[in-house]
Amino acid sequence: MVEIKTLIDEEKLHKRVDEIAKQIEKEYKGKEIIFVCILKGSIFFTVDLARRIKENVKLEFIRVSSYRDGTESTGEINMKLDLKDSIQGKDVIVIEDIIDTGRTLSYLIKYLKMKKPNSVKLCALLDKPDRRVVDVKVDYTGFQIPDKFIVGYGLDWDEKYRNLPYIGYIE
Ligand code: IMP
Ligand code: MG
Repeated sequence: MVEIKTLIDEEKLHKRVDEIAKQIEKEYKGKEIIFVCILKGSIFFTVDLARRIKENVKLEFIRVSSYRDGTESTGEINMKLDLKDSIQGKDVIVIEDIIDTGRTLSYLIKYLKMKKPNSVKLCALLDKPDRRVVDVKVDYTGFQIPDKFIVGYGLDWDEKYRNLPYIGYIE
């Protein structure tokens, strides 16, 4: 049995999601926002954020698999599910669960910018700054965390533990 320890409990998690939602709502007053949810990990975060925002929020989904060299992503990305509707001229916020090396997001942001949106911002629930290889500008960050393997609230270990209601780590 693996042991999962709590890093961020439900109360702290929801409080922070509330704060980010308020900040986005304020900055996008009167605008329509397109959330680009990076599947599968960001699904819980995306839904919780969207339901707290009173502006129009439309949802798009992208699924990528990043090739891994041992434990790290290589930056080579395979698009498994692409956008369904055009984002041209739209205000886009990419919703990501966690930024590790930054390779996946740096690729995705370039890809989305080619589609000529009006703006693209990045919102990540978790950030492991110690692991960064490629510099990415994060506009909204939930928590900066130490270099641990995280599960819960969308994040998985071999597809398991995504449905834990809190953020845990595997020892
Ligand atoms: P990056 O390209 O190295 O930034 O990879 C980011 C992706 O790796 C995330 O979207 C996650 O899917 C996955 N990942 C990175 N760290 C963790 C972790 O601690 N737990 C679960 N998945 C992780
Ligand atoms: Mg992911």
